[in-house]
Amino acid sequence: MGGETPVTAGQQQHRRSWAEPWKVKMVEPLRMTTREQRESALGEAGYNTFLLRSDDVYIDLLTDSGTNAMSDRQWAALMLGDEAYAGSRNFYELEAAILEVYGFAHMVPTHQGRGAEHLLSQCAIKPGQLVPGNMYFTTTREHQERAGGVFVDVIVDQAHDPENLDPFKGNVDLSKLEEVILRGGPQGVAYLSLAATVNMAGGQPVSMRNLREVRELCRRHGVPVYLDATRLVENALFIQEREEGYRDRSIAEIVLEFCSLTDGAWMSAKKDSLVNIGGWLAVNDEGLFEEIRNLVIVFEGLHTYGGLAGRDMAAMAVGIKESIQDDHVRSRVGQVRYLGELLLGAGIPMVKPVGGHGVFLDASRFYPHLPQDAFPAQTLAAELYLDSGIRGMERGIVSAGRDPKTGEHHRPRLELTRLAIPRRVYTQAHMDVVAESVEAVYARRSEASGLVMTHEPRYLRFFQARFEPRGS
Ligand code: F0G
Repeated sequence: MGGETPVTAGQQQHRRSWAEPWKVKMVEPLRMTTREQRESALGEAGYNTFLLRSDDVYIDLLTDSGTNAMSDRQWAALMLGDEAYAGSRNFYELEAAILEVYGFAHMVPTHQGRGAEHLLSQCAIKPGQLVPGNMYFTTTREHQERAGGVFVDVIVDQAHDPENLDPFKGNVDLSKLEEVILRGGPQGVAYLSLAATVNMAGGQPVSMRNLREVRELCRRHGVPVYLDATRLVENALFIQEREEGYRDRSIAEIVLEFCSLTDGAWMSAKKDSLVNIGGWLAVNDEGLFEEIRNLVIVFEGLHTYGGLAGRDMAAMAVGIKESIQDDHVRSRVGQVRYLGELLLGAGIPMVKPVGGHGVFLDASRFYPHLPQDAFPAQTLAAELYLDSGIRGMERGIVSAGRDPKTGEHHRPRLELTRLAIPRRVYTQAHMDVVAESVEAVYARRSEASGLVMTHEPRYLRFFQARFEPRGS
């Protein structure tokens, strides 16, 4: 920790292997279950891993969101929570951390990422405006559509191809973006919604060069660029490893440069920032900020707590600083890559290259005999749980939801089952167990018969939908 000079990838070439830059001080016992117990639990959960009780889960790879292990420094910071309704000391600590690390001057805390998405969408989208973005994210698009916006995907085509090895599959396709800007006209485009990394594409990064070009195009047309910074430190590692000119730049420097090319950002701090709850929204424009600072009171809380306890903001301020340490990011993404390489070695179909926050199994090639209407990715998540108690998440047709105008299913080209890795939580041996279970399920792949949806909620259906085995 502290102020020592960061060691960059270039200086570390002599090192043969990565390891975690921490040791374990406290452990949380896990419960093993029998196949019979898991069959019963999954039936009760309507074959939806979101509806399982976590006590029935062995290795929980549902999400990397809010599942981080905090450091002793963060736990200590909790005790220094200032729970004043207004003007908590921890708010000013958080504001200073965001200014230092992300470079944004004006910010409000929010209870989590979607709180920030809601505020930005309400303040920056007029009904009917287009909102181009590098692939949709579930909650992001929901809030954009609720504000009357029309989301348009402008990610590069490579992002939709799991086999394509392009190093920056999160990039914006400039000609698609220009087409949307020209179609919308001067008042018809709200902003570019840019995520780095891109969750639904498999945690794929955006290059600095692409952002610079995007920025220039948007500037010429007067379109602001707002960044989903949820997993930006992971994106920064890919820039350091893969982009010319960044090998000897620290993660901190790359993060700051990236943000300097945007007009503002929103954050789910439950990911990169190593906390269990929290988020924020930060912009440079003072007029827009005035709106946000006013609206946050209606939906989240006063602008100096935004739905969080003082102690949550304290832990977040410390977590932000820890999250940009080069050793931390390298071991975090290194663990994801370790699992990915085991699975690639076993010939498991998955999104390549391995992304930043998890391994995304390609359910359409895993189960080529299942049509998309039989929910192959939901089926694979269910089968993995039955095999070993490992919990993953569907990221395919169920997550994509329906078109609000036509009512038809969105049919994403990617039909994926995500195994997201929580930060600083599981060991390399856990990753070995996960790989063995995926291989076992793959060996029995021809026996899978798919699912039918028996209950479909209206909003963000993947969270609460229920299923039954097909033909049962
Ligand atoms: N943006 C991205 C890229 C996300 O991955 C998420 C959440 C959000 C915004 C919303 O943030 O959950 O704090 O309200 N992703 C979680 C996941 C749910 O499992 O990928 P939130």
